[in-house]
Amino acid sequence: MTIIDTLEKKFETVFNKQSEGNYFSPGRINLIGEHTDYNGGNVFPASITIGTYGLVAKRDDQIFRFYSDNFPEKGIISIDLNELDYDKEDDWTNYPKGVIKFLKESGHVIEQGLDVFFYGTIPNGAGLSSSASIELLMGLILTDEFHLDVAMLDLVKLGKKVENDYIGVNSGIMDQFAIGMGKKDQAILLNTNTLEYELVPANFLNNVIVIMNTNKRRELADSKYNERRGECEEALRRLQTELAIKELCELDVATFEAHQELIADPVLIKRAKHAISENERTLLAKQALVAGDLEEFGLLLNASHNSLKEDYEVTGIELDTLVKAAQEVEGVLGARMTGAGFGGCGIALVPKAIVETFKEKVNEVYEKEIGYSADFYEASIDNGTRKLS
Ligand code: GLA
Repeated sequence: MTIIDTLEKKFETVFNKQSEGNYFSPGRINLIGEHTDYNGGNVFPASITIGTYGLVAKRDDQIFRFYSDNFPEKGIISIDLNELDYDKEDDWTNYPKGVIKFLKESGHVIEQGLDVFFYGTIPNGAGLSSSASIELLMGLILTDEFHLDVAMLDLVKLGKKVENDYIGVNSGIMDQFAIGMGKKDQAILLNTNTLEYELVPANFLNNVIVIMNTNKRRELADSKYNERRGECEEALRRLQTELAIKELCELDVATFEAHQELIADPVLIKRAKHAISENERTLLAKQALVAGDLEEFGLLLNASHNSLKEDYEVTGIELDTLVKAAQEVEGVLGARMTGAGFGGCGIALVPKAIVETFKEKVNEVYEKEIGYSADFYEASIDNGTRKLS
């Protein structure tokens, strides 16, 4: 029995009818280019095989009924198509609700409801973008079921708008872009300033990317994410007193260093330094990957983590312990946190032959120092949000 068979059966049990369409939306990892996407810089993410399933059937009325197999205790949550304002009580369904609201507001006609069954294989709070996964999933479901004329890139932008203006997290466009536009076995080098992008074969030769979950939950809205963004904006404002730039990442490291005293605050200087140096590392990492120079690629991962730890200060004891333990395993080419930080996941580039011992060794250190276990998954890179049948 496939996972879809199982989910179809569950759909029937929950909604007393059969599902009519199946959809899937991935999660994402970011290889490198962290906290650059709201500074006009480059990012290098990829969509992965774990993600969110959505099964649907149309309704004749104007009610949306949502059920998540990840939160069965919450039961069916019903939403009226005419009452789409954010409501804390509606819990996780605010994500799909926000998507319906903004699609309607941008002029698309949605006149009837749906029963939607969600099932996510992304560990909750792992920082692998389960929220963007749900946003894109709902966007595609609505587009497809109601024959709306919306391009994937518009769904990507709409998902970001939901996150920013509905949920209240001031995030950049990386997650939604990676999830909506992802391609099997390709990483996406995205210039977040122009939205130009390039697909780059994610060929790690004899190595794999291992995702390492700290099992420390991170919640963007509660975290210091918005604070970091504010610090970058302030650093930019101060640089703009003499430099004609619109975004921090327009500067290269040398120009930044020649002008950093304009910022006049050691903390803000560190924040800007991270964004600008990370942007350069991202372009170098892409070149190294294309050239098959995985040693260089791994060193850039390590340098990225160090910058996120020392200058951007978004790692924390769990991520630092996990990443350091990974970097110290012989043969490992590099490791870093991935995503927003403050908990969540790291990634490591590990020779295929040592993956099992790698997991054991890293977990041994992690458990000893942190007091609970980490989890490990091998990342495989797969297509973006799509209809399954
Ligand atoms: C979160 C945000 C992204 C990006 C990363 C950090 O995942 O949603 O937009 O800013 O953090 O790189």
